[in-house]
Amino acid sequence: MIIIITYDITEKAGLEDTHCNKGTHSFRNTIDTYNVMLLWRRRTAREETAALADIVLIYASMTGNTEEMADAIAAGIRSEGGEVVVKSVMDANASELERYDAVLLGAYTWGDGELPDEFLDFYEEMDDIRLTGRKAAVFGSCDSCYPEYGAAVDLLVNKLRETGADVVLPGLKVELSPSTEEAEACRRFGSEFVKLAASGAARS
Ligand SMILES: Cc1cc2nc3c(=O)[nH]c(=O)nc-3n(C[C@H](O)[C@H](O)[C@H](O)COP(=O)(O)O)c2cc1C
Repeated sequence: MIIIITYDITEKAGLEDTHCNKGTHSFRNTIDTYNVMLLWRRRTAREETAALADIVLIYASMTGNTEEMADAIAAGIRSEGGEVVVKSVMDANASELERYDAVLLGAYTWGDGELPDEFLDFYEEMDDIRLTGRKAAVFGSCDSCYPEYGAAVDLLVNKLRETGADVVLPGLKVELSPSTEEAEACRRFGSEFVKLAASGAARS
């Protein structure tokens, strides 16, 4: 940008009529080449950005385990150059999912294989949206002491399918707080998801 301004100043000063003419021309050739390179680089950057999907990750976590998973998954997405908007379900509406190319939902399981209370309104609102063409996946912390292990993850997978979303990965269930290996599995889940989402980033 600074060099483009210098170009204008040089022209206004009439330097092309002086003995510096030759030098000005060669300077201009350099500027033109530089400008073409800049345009090419900007277009390439835009194309790369366009190839990456807009991703939203919405989660519920009471004691922090699912939130740890969400953080590791978001880190996996970002490690691939992807961007993700991370929100608590208490600050989100299901209708906003339609603004994104790809959707990640995270929830711990509550009661006797139920969704967390704070997910119930969101879950109901999902009946009124269409996510056809969007990639999606679900994760959540669970406890194998309960017979309905991670049932909230399965409920959300089924609900996303009802909206027309393409659930591209099996639901990721982690026992309580993620161990180092499980946190790494969450990061891989994020990086795998962003690649799958990028391959078909198209909203209907
Ligand atoms: C009252 C209660 C009911 C639960 N019910 C289930 C259940 O049915 N299935 C399951 O896998 N985990 C169940 N859990 C375990 C939680 O999902 C688990 O503690 C989880 O790690 C909480 O995640 P968070 O830290 O993100 O809140 C239950 C926990 C409580 C306190």
